[in-house]
Amino acid sequence: MKFVGHHILSVSQFDRADVEQIFDVADHMRPYAMRKRITRVLEGAIVSNMFFEPSTRTRVSFGSAFNLLGGEVRETTEVKASALAKGESLYDTARVLSGYSDVIVMRHPEPGSVAEFAQASRVPVINGGDGSNEHPSQALLDLYTMRQELQAQDRSLDGLRIALIGDLKYGRAVHSLCKLLCLYDDISLHLVSPPELEIPAGIADDLTAAGHQIEVFHSLEPGIHEVDILYVTRTQEERFPSQDEANRYRGLFRLNQSIYTQHCEPNTVIMHPLPRDSRAQAQELDDDLNQNPNLAIFRQTDNGVLVRMALFALVLDVVDEVDNHAKPVTWFTAKRNEPLRP
Ligand code: CP
Repeated sequence: MKFVGHHILSVSQFDRADVEQIFDVADHMRPYAMRKRITRVLEGAIVSNMFFEPSTRTRVSFGSAFNLLGGEVRETTEVKASALAKGESLYDTARVLSGYSDVIVMRHPEPGSVAEFAQASRVPVINGGDGSNEHPSQALLDLYTMRQELQAQDRSLDGLRIALIGDLKYGRAVHSLCKLLCLYDDISLHLVSPPELEIPAGIADDLTAAGHQIEVFHSLEPGIHEVDILYVTRTQEERFPSQDEANRYRGLFRLNQSIYTQHCEPNTVIMHPLPRDSRAQAQELDDDLNQNPNLAIFRQTDNGVLVRMALFALVLDVVDEVDNHAKPVTWFTAKRNEPLRP
């Protein structure tokens, strides 16, 4: 009952049992997400997807997740397309939208803005990313994917060895992920970033207080030895005071197949919250890794639908009803583990 009718604003609101519950429900959603069955359990329900910053994955996968549960999606995708551009407050926007929706997903560039919005909302609000602060659903899907990748090696999350690489200062997915890792035991972290983009001190303190081992690296190669997972991130250019400052860090750490082969263990899993910056001057995760079977980035994005379906089902209290509204799929469904042939 901890989820029903509650906002999801920060991973700090979860304990380990909550996270495991989300993962169990996500597992249950797999046949629906894979189009083996359909369910109409949320027929008649409406989610408002309010994205005041660019997004592909979070916006579309939250929308797809709601559709897969049988609900309807209403979207606003820019400040200039909303009355915020006319000076309307977050308070008024929240009061209005919560009259139109059963649940709201919101992304906004200001840290704390989604929590402020939620205070005025009359329906549950899910944080789709608030500035450099948090990205709870991303961290949950990342951890879910890590668990899955480790299970394939007969391992569990306890005892995980992970390298977090790139912009650890502004990366909200990293911040939420570190908070979730504090719920597990005996984690060893390599924090690999330029000196100016190290992880905020408060988060490093939390990891240490949880009993985890931290090593800091300022160059890529020494930091990627002897880890189970590489979690690579993009320089969050939009958070820097100026583009000139952001440009200083672009392309500083680039992982490619040759570096991977030379420095990583053969089973090391490669993850990234995406988008990766594939422009020539950046390429933190080179395209030549695309055929590497340990590249899990698209398993992460697929898992995003499962985890977001689970969050909706938990918050709207329909977990036990999902199968009662199920029927088989009757249309052609592609095998999503391989590209279609012409
Ligand atoms: N990972 C992530 O938040 O991607 P989007 O910005 O495309 O939503």
